[in-house]
Amino acid sequence: MRLGQCHNFHDDRELARRRLPGPIFNYIDGGADDEGTMRRNTAAFDGWDLVPNVLRGIGAVDLSVTVMGQTLALPFYCSPTALQRLFHHQGERAVAAAAAKYGTMFGVSSLGTTSLEELRQAYPGPQVYQFYFHKDRGLNRAMMDRAKAAGVQVMMLTVDSITGGNRERDLRTGFSIPFRLTLAGMAQFALHPMWGINYVTHEKFRLPQLDDHVDMGSGTMSISRYFTEMLDPAISWDDVARMVADWGGPFCLKGVMSAQDARRAAEIGCSGIVLSNHGGRQLDGGRAPFDQLDEVVQAAGSALDVMIDGGIQRGTHVLKALARGAKAVGLGRAYLFPLAAGGQPAVERALGRLKAEVERDMKLMGCARISDLNRDHLRLR
Ligand SMILES: Cc1cc2nc3c(=O)[nH]c(=O)nc-3n(C[C@H](O)[C@H](O)[C@H](O)COP(=O)(O)O)c2cc1C
Repeated sequence: MRLGQCHNFHDDRELARRRLPGPIFNYIDGGADDEGTMRRNTAAFDGWDLVPNVLRGIGAVDLSVTVMGQTLALPFYCSPTALQRLFHHQGERAVAAAAAKYGTMFGVSSLGTTSLEELRQAYPGPQVYQFYFHKDRGLNRAMMDRAKAAGVQVMMLTVDSITGGNRERDLRTGFSIPFRLTLAGMAQFALHPMWGINYVTHEKFRLPQLDDHVDMGSGTMSISRYFTEMLDPAISWDDVARMVADWGGPFCLKGVMSAQDARRAAEIGCSGIVLSNHGGRQLDGGRAPFDQLDEVVQAAGSALDVMIDGGIQRGTHVLKALARGAKAVGLGRAYLFPLAAGGQPAVERALGRLKAEVERDMKLMGCARISDLNRDHLRLR
């Protein structure tokens, strides 16, 4: 199977599955517990149908949106994800370059493998820096100061991961950072020699956002211990209100699911929220973001930009979310599988393909601008 044969999310996923050692593929592909929420994230879109209008004289289609003061040429963006260097040796650089090519936003994770300074300098376009809240308040302050010095404009605090999710696939494969593999896991690496060769012949794996604070490389701290030992599960609205005030610019909460929390986010001065359950990787049994979108958009009113992620695989998923009131739509696995399948060209191909789908679907819906999409275009099946 080659990249040229990948025509949708499922093809990219399949090529990634063939190219990656099993433990790494399953780390991306898997969710929490029984993975019910992860499956529902995509299935939720099937419960609603698009109702097109015809003969609207649609010529050119404008796909641009504005979120948290940044203009994106596309209504979808690459959500921040950890450890990209592990999926392909080009890592974050490939994703950032592809997002920049299409004029859209990408997120830099605090568990990213390329430094936020490098990515901010190389790509002055729309970007967010995603971080977690640590027990060590000094570390939180240092991370905010560092982001400010790097010229980051939008901070995104992930609030659905105050402890690690129960990812049973990872327990089975022995996936951990640093690597500690079961025998079966090691066999998987032996079966994918190209990945191994690329991994060892390129830049060393690092977590530059955390290197000064957490020693992951030498094995004293694993990712799961990072979540359970370093993050502060006691984080409260008062803590976040202080951070929002300290930051003094656009601040976004990622992982808000309830209307009540959306109102609270607006009250403490956030400019945006991402309605998200972390791709079903945290609370299994939690509601899908698309099912929850109406409530949250109504609660947020005009006070917040509401973004959404989880389960997006198609242009029509993007359209349905926008018609229901989301300002922009985040992608996770939909760009991670292409990254693993073929680096930058594959991420570009996937973003270009989704752009073409959204553009085509907008024409078929009779909409020339994203703001033309509204609730009248949707019916519950
Ligand atoms: C492999 C992987 C790593 C992720 N790492 C992070 C992260 O470091 N920070 C974060 O806020 N979200 C992280 N996420 C969640 C994504 O930002 C996004 O919310 C989710 O992937 C959306 O669901 P989807 O994959 O179904 O599109 C990660 C998701 C995956 C699949």
